[in-house]
Amino acid sequence: MSAESGKISLAAAGRSQFTFRIARIVGMPHFGDAGKALSVSKGDMSIDAKNEAAAERSRSVELVIARGEQSWTIKPAEFDDFPFEDDDRITIIPRELGDELPVTWGDRHVEIVPGRAIRVPSVYKIAEINGFRMPAHLISLTGEGPARFEELAKALIDNYQKYSPFDPDMTIVDLGCGMARLAFQLFNFLNARGRYIGIDVVRDSMAWCQKNITPQHPNFTFHHFDAFNELYNPYGCYRTKDFRMPAADRSVDRIFLSSVFTHLLEDEVMHYLREFRRVLKPDGLAHASFFLYPEQPINLPPHLSFLTFENHYGNGVYGCGEWKRGAVAYTDEAMRRMIGNAGLRLVRPYLKGWWSGVHGDAAEFGQDAAILARDPNAPRTKRWSIGLPQFRENPLARLLSGLRS
Ligand SMILES: C[S@@+](CC[C@H](N)C(=O)[O-])C[C@H]1O[C@@H](n2cnc3c(N)ncnc32)[C@H](O)[C@@H]1O
Repeated sequence: MSAESGKISLAAAGRSQFTFRIARIVGMPHFGDAGKALSVSKGDMSIDAKNEAAAERSRSVELVIARGEQSWTIKPAEFDDFPFEDDDRITIIPRELGDELPVTWGDRHVEIVPGRAIRVPSVYKIAEINGFRMPAHLISLTGEGPARFEELAKALIDNYQKYSPFDPDMTIVDLGCGMARLAFQLFNFLNARGRYIGIDVVRDSMAWCQKNITPQHPNFTFHHFDAFNELYNPYGCYRTKDFRMPAADRSVDRIFLSSVFTHLLEDEVMHYLREFRRVLKPDGLAHASFFLYPEQPINLPPHLSFLTFENHYGNGVYGCGEWKRGAVAYTDEAMRRMIGNAGLRLVRPYLKGWWSGVHGDAAEFGQDAAILARDPNAPRTKRWSIGLPQFRENPLARLLSGLRS
């Protein structure tokens, strides 16, 4: 692993002054599964305009796909439409450029144009799930591989139904939906009035879901927002704070987010909580898992022994390992401060997770969780504004962000 990792270049010329992106990350470790993935994290990238050239180089590579004796050379822009088969091997050429591209979870990131990058695995594996042929490398990003995709989704949905019950005609937002694990459980549940809105920063996952799920299930829509996250979207052009959720004010019944606040920093969580306040109906609920920073000694199971949260980011926010967003924990005080400042309230005590090993049989799920609603007594705050034209009203920004509706 190289200490030279990660620079964000402020793309001044010809683009919005708010646009920034990573120009180069060298030697990131292989992220094989959730446990390993979270075992490393790195601090925020430094801003370095000089590295623009390295990003330019990523746009000049080609991909060689080998299947037995056959091989094809394609442009990265053709990647989405290539008819991959299980076990296709992919090489990025020229190799020396390919070797310089950022790697997370073992996939190389190749930028096609600013705001559009692809993840390229060295071997393309296909998982057959529920009649869908799914790219296994994208499933693995959600925390577990294909083998547990359905099992974990069922457990998740049972947990949501138990603590934040929902009906077939509700509008449900799945924030940080990954490969739509939850959506698969809702195909036969939501009726024609029900809606599922999936949102993620991984472009490839959203592109796959838009292409494969929405045509069969038109009330399931997917939205990519190109926010920077050094693990999930290292070429991201925007900050999470620049995102306006694709939902009208007071239109959403449930917001589910599983293992998303665990990868976000305080200003990002705060921003989303304010958005929850905006989009939730008066009786709507947001069910968000997170790591509650343990004030007492904990008893981590061996496969989670890296969750030590020894890095203090300030204000009751803690991380561990090298990558800043690898795993983030919040103290009770920090959570309550953010929830209150957003005009939300906890509708019940946190659900306790088993990750820390301290709650024994009282644990409800792997991570801790907060169930939130709009606080009718919250003081009226100034209407949310980011000083930028808001994305849904700004066609140019929408184009750059890849946000489709
Ligand atoms: C551990 S995965 C969980 C995925 C999904 N919720 C599930 O349970 O299958 C974390 C997800 O958060 C997404 N994510 C990271 N940063 C985000 C951001 N700023 N806004 C929305 N989603 C984000 C990642 O791309 C990834 O899909």
